[in-house]
Amino acid sequence: MASPHLFVAMTLLVLTSVASWLSSVRSSDTNGVYSPCSDTTVQRSDGFTFAIAFASRDSFFYNRTQQLSPCDRRLSLSTGSSQISLFRPKVDELSLLTVNTSSFAPDTYGGYMVAFAGRKYAARSPPAFVANNTYTVTSFTLVLEYKKGRLQNLYWKRDGCSKCSGGTNYVCLNNQDCAIKTSDCKNHNGKVDCSLAIQLAFSGTDKHLSALNSWYEVEKLRQYSLVGLYQNLKDSLTSQYNNIF
Ligand SMILES: *[C@@H]1O[C@H](CO)[C@@H](O)[C@H](O)[C@H]1NC(C)=O
Ligand SMILES: *[C@@H]1O[C@H](CO)[C@@H](O)[C@H](O)[C@H]1NC(C)=O
Ligand SMILES: *[C@@H]1O[C@H](CO)[C@@H](O)[C@H](O)[C@H]1NC(C)=O
Repeated sequence: MASPHLFVAMTLLVLTSVASWLSSVRSSDTNGVYSPCSDTTVQRSDGFTFAIAFASRDSFFYNRTQQLSPCDRRLSLSTGSSQISLFRPKVDELSLLTVNTSSFAPDTYGGYMVAFAGRKYAARSPPAFVANNTYTVTSFTLVLEYKKGRLQNLYWKRDGCSKCSGGTNYVCLNNQDCAIKTSDCKNHNGKVDCSLAIQLAFSGTDKHLSALNSWYEVEKLRQYSLVGLYQNLKDSLTSQYNNIF
């Protein structure tokens, strides 16, 4: 069953462009499930709905120890300070998702995010640090792993700080994330659009046991390469960091 409570109670956040690449064949979407809190199985070329919740790290844990899906009513996410973004990318297409932060400062919503989908077969990523009042991380890679078309696992792929070493405006956090100063962000009266760029990749098998290969492609890509494919995002998300100061 879907969880209307969760979504009524939380403000639905901006969901912006789901851009796709490597889409030589446009076939139809046979997946009729549009709620991130329902179960489904997919095949290549289906759309797949998942969501990202923004909240404090603690709020993703039940009794401080057990991480649950944000769809689980035992978490008090719907009563606390949190935001949700919904996405529906096409399975097995490399996609770049953006969360426009011009009117949403992740640090004021607890600063962490969890990607999730499913209910009985609930999958959720570990919480990823996005922002506090000192630092903001804007670039992420999320891997969706399927088995026979059912989502098994969601995880953030880190590739170290090699991508930020060139830019003097980046700080490397915990040897894994490139961060920018939160005070430089537009939503904190700075000059940089600190919208989030989330690169997606799919791995595993669909319901016909066809292999999902976009992960293979992303492994070979640099963290910002997909951003670079989209000129308008490139302008707002990458080049600005080095031009503006
Ligand atoms: C919560 O955790 C405490 C301490 O670890 C434990 O004693 C208690 O039984 C747990 N409560 C529930 C509902 O799991
Ligand atoms: C976010 O939204 C603002 C206001 O609509 C717009 O000016 C800005 O370009 C957007 N940023 C991105 C990365 O799309
Ligand atoms: C912000 O996050 C960074 C990286 O996790 C951490 O080193 C720093 O202490 C945090 N600052 C505050 C004010 O919480």
